[in-house]
Amino acid sequence: MSIRLNCRYLNGFLNEEALRQAADETARAQSMLFENSAGAPGSDYHGWLTLPEDYDKEEFARIKQAAAKIVSDSRVLVVIGIGGSYLGARAAIEFVRSKNYNVTATDTPKIFFVGNSISPCELSEVLSVCENTDFSVNVISKSGTTTEPAIAFRFFRALLEKKYGKEGAAGRIYVTTDRTRGTLKQLSLREGYETFVVPDGVGGRYSVLTAVGLLPIAAAGIDIDALMAGAGEAMRRYADRDVLKNDCCRYAAIRNLLYRQGKSVEMIVSYEPDFTMMNEWFKQLFGESEGKDGKGIFPASAIYSTDLHSLGQYVQEGVRLMFETVVCFDRPKRDLRVEMDAENADGLNYLAGRDMSYVNRRAFEGTVLAHTDGGVPNILIECPQMGAFTLGELIYFFEMSCAVSGYMLGVNPFNQPGVESYKRNMFALLGKPGYEELARELKKRLANEG
Ligand code: PA5
Repeated sequence: MSIRLNCRYLNGFLNEEALRQAADETARAQSMLFENSAGAPGSDYHGWLTLPEDYDKEEFARIKQAAAKIVSDSRVLVVIGIGGSYLGARAAIEFVRSKNYNVTATDTPKIFFVGNSISPCELSEVLSVCENTDFSVNVISKSGTTTEPAIAFRFFRALLEKKYGKEGAAGRIYVTTDRTRGTLKQLSLREGYETFVVPDGVGGRYSVLTAVGLLPIAAAGIDIDALMAGAGEAMRRYADRDVLKNDCCRYAAIRNLLYRQGKSVEMIVSYEPDFTMMNEWFKQLFGESEGKDGKGIFPASAIYSTDLHSLGQYVQEGVRLMFETVVCFDRPKRDLRVEMDAENADGLNYLAGRDMSYVNRRAFEGTVLAHTDGGVPNILIECPQMGAFTLGELIYFFEMSCAVSGYMLGVNPFNQPGVESYKRNMFALLGKPGYEELARELKKRLANEG
């Protein structure tokens, strides 16, 4: 069983005829990834398209060996990276294993993700965990120059060298970066760290199926062969040039058609808390790919039924600017049955004999009907289960949909020029050499605005 796009809750908002009318436009966007690839904006970042089959098999084997070594000599793995250099791995680990992985894992190391903020509070907490336990570090940065992970790595490298000596530390540092460029690459060459490559044609947010995601995922005991096999299956399926039959193209077209009706916010929703970080990965993928040139659907997220008790009111009755994309699963990873209680003091005996997954399903059905009644179109992505194979399919599905959708929107889905503005200001205010003039201007502005 594969993942399926279900459009039945779009009735009244969009029909098949609208998709047929958009078919030529959708096909043009799809061809920008295939035969017109060379001329398409961002075409030098199309490397992820064939990645599920066309990856470095020697490096893949080395990833498994490194993961096995980390499992054998470390109680903790610290993964240092930000944005596309950590979200996919963290999302995959929580999706397949658990949101509570660090508490429930017994035969694989605890995994802490740092260098994705500049919080001294978070960093010092993980540093003190590592003081008293055997640990390894996987530092991930394609550019090798990003400030947040660079600062974190300086602290963890110092701690490793203090605990294990320079040589011992080198045996516990795994670097994932560009093949040739960047500070991290130069440092690795100098210190003899084992390195893995972020391939040239693969941008950060499209990199989860490279060493960026695969090493931490494998260290968490997840079957990366199954993950790649799922992505490969999706790659073959979504290469279908009949855009009306291709679920990636249909999803991309639906998003754009809803956007043109004024639905400028997409809420990605799951009823499984283990999907929380997948929501974050999705938000980065779509937000950074589409939000530019004054355009783009704003990606928001929710876990239901949790957030029905916070955001639910807004979704039901707030400004009608939203559509929901609900990722649901045919089977939960684990289930529980509600037992009969002789006293029935809580009045729940009407559920006796029912599984929790049944209750969750009814919550979903009640919500989808209420929200569509309230004017919120719902798209369903139905998945068989929460395993590595399905995850591979889902990752590829979203990546392909995002690329087609971005091209339909008329943007380059593979750049992120807007991310540079905050970096320039931060560097200037921190006194980084080369930013002196900007620093003077910003300080004047801060003084006036304060
Ligand atoms: O998608 C992207 O390209 C970004 O989110 C990057 O992954 C993020 O900025 C981290 O960059 P780097 O891996 O170069 O440190």
